[in-house]
Amino acid sequence: MSKVQTIGVLTSGGDAPGMNAAIRGVVRTACKLGIKVKGIKRGYAGLLNEEIVDMDSMSVSDIIHRGGTILYTARCMEFMTEEGQKKAAEICHKHGIEGLVVIGGDGSFRGAQKLANLGINTVGIPGTIDLDISCTEYTIGFDTAVNTAMEAIDKVRDTSSSHERCSIIEVMGRGAGYIALWSAIASGAEAVLLPERYDYNEQAIIDSLIEKHRSGKTHHIIINAEGIGHSTSMAKRIEQATGIETRATILGHMQRGGSPSCKDRVYASIMGSKAVSLLAEGKSKRIVAYKNGDYVDFDIDEALAMTKDIPEEQYQIFLSLVR
Ligand code: ADP
Ligand code: F6P
Repeated sequence: MSKVQTIGVLTSGGDAPGMNAAIRGVVRTACKLGIKVKGIKRGYAGLLNEEIVDMDSMSVSDIIHRGGTILYTARCMEFMTEEGQKKAAEICHKHGIEGLVVIGGDGSFRGAQKLANLGINTVGIPGTIDLDISCTEYTIGFDTAVNTAMEAIDKVRDTSSSHERCSIIEVMGRGAGYIALWSAIASGAEAVLLPERYDYNEQAIIDSLIEKHRSGKTHHIIINAEGIGHSTSMAKRIEQATGIETRATILGHMQRGGSPSCKDRVYASIMGSKAVSLLAEGKSKRIVAYKNGDYVDFDIDEALAMTKDIPEEQYQIFLSLVR
């Protein structure tokens, strides 16, 4: 017997491929347990505007393979205020929403933390392409995004190699360098600039390019993380200093779209299902995570206090693989 009769589900912050699979996991699991589900559109903004719809098993048919989020997503300033959070909790009560599944990133979890403190049972599911949530080794969308980036980089490499150019390719990740490091290893790049490691020594990059050029390397791929940015001006300076024709490509939002990978569909489905099981057990203020090969859950306060960094060993291995 479930401890809650009605739950809500919303997606918040930047969308990520696989969010639909998580929504499907939530709705289908809840239906099996006899729990009613209300879909809340446009994240916390939609909650405050009471954009709330009933969902059933059919509402999530034919979405597991689709990128984006059928519930739409938003960022909401009003919800950052105490009044906004109280209003949101009252709206949950009004609609009989006893538990809420929040699919999003750290910011969205802070919102879930506030709602839990106001008496709404909340469970977070990590959904962001950035992989920057400390309590988990997996976030929904990272796998698809990094594969999209890799495929795009392979294409840039073809033309870069034909023209014997240097290409600086900027990938997303906000302040985190996970997409940059993974796509740099996967695409055999010559250099990667990570916000966590970059010392702003552009001269070292220039010297290394000149040396590689002299030793016969005809094209060069540099992966630059969004957290460092300025790829276009960097390309101009590098071209001027090295004499190697250099182009910048900013991959941008294409990395957030597309059909989710198998991994993102499976992990997101499991996390969606697990979030509902936690609510059904009467748990609140939890975040579903993937750690050491297992699906686990953490207290939100503890999870938000955790920190993580790019594994130094992986960065060193990248460096050791560069010719
Ligand atoms: P993400 O969830 O991907 O990290 P944001 O940081 O933009 O994305 O957060 C998404 C939304 O979560 C914000 O627009 C806001 O409504 C809510 N939020 C973020 N931080 C807080 C906070 N400290 N307290 C309450 N709500 C927050
Ligand atoms: O958090 C996901 C992300 O795509 C980041 O990598 C990027 O910095 C940010 O969102 C972009 O946000 P927006 O879509 O609002 O421009």
